[in-house]
Amino acid sequence: MHISARAIEAKASVDIVTGFLARIQSLVGDPDALDFTFGNPHEMALPGFSAAIGAKLEPQSVDWFAYKTSEREAQDAISAGLSAELALPFEPDDIAMTQGAFGAISLAFALLADAGDEVVIPVPGWFCYEPMLFATNLVPVRAPLASDSFDLDIEAIARAITPRTRIVIVNSPANPTGRVYPEAAWDALAAVLEDASRAHGRRIWLLSDEPYRRIRFDGVGFASPAGSYPWTVIAYSYAKVLLAPGQRIGYFALSPLIPADEREELRSALMPLGLAIGWGFPDAIMQYAVPALETLSLDIDELTRKRDRMYGALIDEGVEVTRPEGTFYLWGRAPGGDGQAFCDALAARGVYLMPGRLFDQPHHFRISLTATMATIERALPHILEVAGELR
Ligand SMILES: Cc1ncc(COP(=O)(O)O)c(C=O)c1O
Repeated sequence: MHISARAIEAKASVDIVTGFLARIQSLVGDPDALDFTFGNPHEMALPGFSAAIGAKLEPQSVDWFAYKTSEREAQDAISAGLSAELALPFEPDDIAMTQGAFGAISLAFALLADAGDEVVIPVPGWFCYEPMLFATNLVPVRAPLASDSFDLDIEAIARAITPRTRIVIVNSPANPTGRVYPEAAWDALAAVLEDASRAHGRRIWLLSDEPYRRIRFDGVGFASPAGSYPWTVIAYSYAKVLLAPGQRIGYFALSPLIPADEREELRSALMPLGLAIGWGFPDAIMQYAVPALETLSLDIDELTRKRDRMYGALIDEGVEVTRPEGTFYLWGRAPGGDGQAFCDALAARGVYLMPGRLFDQPHHFRISLTATMATIERALPHILEVAGELR
């Protein structure tokens, strides 16, 4: 055996997802497939997206394509935007440019945790936290969300914490449930983390993974835990709001509430670690485009119409669905209780959903609302019919 023990663990933890990905790969570009699996674009890029990148393609200096760390203009645009969005005084040096949220999460692990440290992750939650932790020699510890409501379960997080806990990961708006957590939840979590840090004589960090932050419905507000618990770092990606996950761009941010001396130490490690994790900085062009990209967004009104259509139809049929407050996912309990059977029956009709077992929830399914309204209309009769048969 040549591959490392951590590679074996990482691979095993995500085998279900990569297996599923391989099976549905052929759907990409198939005009007959009604694909609701991954959060990929189903229409041409947003207006303004290619122009924002194209405007930066022609070199304006000899170092246009030189090695890039975090570009100042991108840090400036982000710290200004983030300060307004979260009502916290971020400074440009608090921001490290990364290859999407993936890159920001890797940077957080490298910055804050040592081999063998435990990291608490939400379940159901994004399926890449575990493999990323295994690949970094860190230990995932699962903390279930509240059953049925998928609220943050503060007690469950408290129970998951041990003397080896270094990071707790939270994700709001949440993949796959679409829940958005209120400030009161962060205040309660902050109290638990403060107590546990004191009890164990070791600071527990909060990693707030916020790539869906700007995708919210019905005027639901967004509170970042960075405002409630000073020892918070943020991971962000433009992939979701711009629906362009193939063009890698995002950032890592330190909460400005981190005490100044501690923040100074952390800041000093951001550039060296960006290098140490394998030149984790985004491409030059993507960084130059950030000020323009900051102003773009997918059409939230259209996404709301798609959510309402799909959610309304499922609820009318008696399917238990969590009403998404954010993200572009719809999370439901499979009629009949077997998520795989529901997805298989639909796949036989050319309609592809994501089975909940990819999130360790075999009774559930996830629908990505990045599919077009036309696809939703074509798929709904099948979904409702199969739901009726399996109920
Ligand atoms: C919760 C969550 N975090 C992080 C990511 C990674 O985002 P990106 O591919 O933009 O780096 C995703 C992507 O699906 C996600 O759902």
